[in-house]
Amino acid sequence: MKTALVTGASKGIGFEIARQLCAKGFHVLLAARNPHAGSEAASQLVRQKYTCSFVPMDVSDSASIREAYRQVSTKIQHLDVIINNAGVMLDHAQSILAVSESLLLNTLQTNAVGVLTIVQTFLPLMQRGGRIINVSSSGGQIAHGASTFAPAYCISKTTMNAITLQLASTLASEGIAVNAMCPGWVQTDMGGEGAPRSVAAGADTAVWLATEAPQALTGKFLRDRKEISW
Ligand SMILES: NC(=O)c1ccc[n+]([C@@H]2O[C@H](COP(=O)([O-])OP(=O)(O)OC[C@H]3O[C@@H](n4cnc5c(N)ncnc54)[C@H](OP(=O)(O)O)[C@@H]3O)[C@@H](O)[C@H]2O)c1
Repeated sequence: MKTALVTGASKGIGFEIARQLCAKGFHVLLAARNPHAGSEAASQLVRQKYTCSFVPMDVSDSASIREAYRQVSTKIQHLDVIINNAGVMLDHAQSILAVSESLLLNTLQTNAVGVLTIVQTFLPLMQRGGRIINVSSSGGQIAHGASTFAPAYCISKTTMNAITLQLASTLASEGIAVNAMCPGWVQTDMGGEGAPRSVAAGADTAVWLATEAPQALTGKFLRDRKEISW
């Protein structure tokens, strides 16, 4: 049975990615920082006869990531897929000139540094054919100028994209594909009520990258299963 670790999977796009991967026959390691919400989310999938285990993990805390690895590595021998989905948007409409140092650092810790720490920590469980998917945002695109709607959030996703490219280059010789994807504007707590997309549509490209996409596809930024600019 293939295994997938999905972070920030207690709700929203992460929970939907976990559900879709379970439906495709994966054993999903559903990671979440809130023990009550995380174990309830995993139980919901187990009640549907899926194979799902809850893993407590705060992606902003390297000790928590290491403890999650310790727990996971006693139960499973290999990991096929890592989906770095957990994310925060702590700023909103303010100008970058008003962004505080602590808000920027907290956002970078969760959305970018945590992603790298998770890959560094869990890599020993991955083999040739592994797939790493980073849930980014078009807010992180810089090819045609920067988005300014939430500056710290957008900078963190640009950083996540840079980490994606670094990892893709580094892991190419090991046959591990690393890509970033944008889910679109999705109806979740983060997306808000005005969002046009369902969580199922938002999860689709990540699930495709985890399962059906060519293994040779790596070091790309995708939306709706198609490459977009960085
Ligand atoms: N919704 C959109 O329109 C949209 C657009 C582009 C990109 N995205 C990206 O899609 C991903 C999922 O977002 P979403 O819309 O599903 O948001 P959401 O409903 O707010 O869910 C975010 C998830 O991340 C978790 N999380 C936050 N900080 C964490 C931490 N330190 N450790 C572990 N888990 C943490 C949350 O857990 P708690 O419940 O404990 O906070 C929650 O499970 C994010 O990376 C986001 O940037 C979303």
